[in-house]
Amino acid sequence: MLNAKITGTGSYLPEKIVTNKDFESIIDTTDEWIYARTGIKQRHVIAKHETTSSMAEMAANQALEAAGVNASDIDLIIIGTSSPDRVFPSTACILQQKLGVGDCAAFDVQAACSGFIYALGIAHQFIKSGGATKALVIGAEANSRILDYTDRSTCVIFGDGAGAVVVEASDEQGIMSTHMHSDGQYQDLLYINNPIKDQQQDGDKAHMTMHGNDVYKVAVKTLSRIVDETLEANGMKKSDIDWLIPHQANIRIISSVAKKLGMPMEKVVLTIENQGNTSAASVPLALDLAVRDGRIKKGDTILMEAFGGGFVWGSALVRM
Ligand code: UT7
Repeated sequence: MLNAKITGTGSYLPEKIVTNKDFESIIDTTDEWIYARTGIKQRHVIAKHETTSSMAEMAANQALEAAGVNASDIDLIIIGTSSPDRVFPSTACILQQKLGVGDCAAFDVQAACSGFIYALGIAHQFIKSGGATKALVIGAEANSRILDYTDRSTCVIFGDGAGAVVVEASDEQGIMSTHMHSDGQYQDLLYINNPIKDQQQDGDKAHMTMHGNDVYKVAVKTLSRIVDETLEANGMKKSDIDWLIPHQANIRIISSVAKKLGMPMEKVVLTIENQGNTSAASVPLALDLAVRDGRIKKGDTILMEAFGGGFVWGSALVRM
């Protein structure tokens, strides 16, 4: 069995920033409410000419450069997204064309906010089994395109962006384990309607619906369980983890997972204040931030985790 190692990271955030204060003039909300309940101060929003694939391209190019890998050497592209450019072809196929990559496998993974963790888990399996040697794994979301800006319980939460990693077959230990779960009984608590099919029920425009408080309660319990599962699978103790890179849904959820790990908040990579919840993009965006600012170093052990609509949840234990 081969090892799969993250050899480069990249990210992209659109230029436009929308602050909590900006929302005060369009919906019944306050900066104080949003910050106290979520930890969010601002989020990035894509411009008219941008798309999920264009953000993915920017992030991918950075990751390729960091890894010292040519796009033409990539033999697998997986994008975690719930806001694809088109229903089909996949955003991964559109990116493949933009990057000029040959005839490798390219597909999207729809696992809501856990999309990147799922994509990483799949790339891990491909590489371990010899099915690929150099993979681009991306989380990219244009959430602003599927938000209802009259619904204060969702529109203030989400932001846009993309994060990417190159995963390569390696002799060194890299991705130690990945864990993926789902439970469809919760499908109505957090979803985006499909305008192709759901027109009668939900109107003709895709938009996100979230029963935040119910999601919150399950997320806290579930993420706590996956931390135990991941440590146990690797025979590791909490103190063996150098960094926690959580999905950035809510600072209170993140703090409770950190507490469970006995981890000080300085060891948790946070982007939520400046980026909001970027769904599948949040974990790779945070990873790239901490790699580029020098906090995460070669040899560090990182626990990544995410939870989202489905419900779907997952984790990855990674040695950088
Ligand atoms: O990323 C995928 C996974 N998602 C998550 O993990 C999200 C988990 N959930 C959460 O993060 C939190 O539930 C939210 C931040 C979404 C909401 O916070 P909450 O403390 O659970 O608030 P709530 O939904 O219980 O709402 C409390 C009140 C309600 O008013 P009433 O019914 O008590 O009068 C809401 O209408 O807050 C109201 N509210 C707002 N008020 C001001 C909801 N949104 C807003 C808003 N501004 N933007």
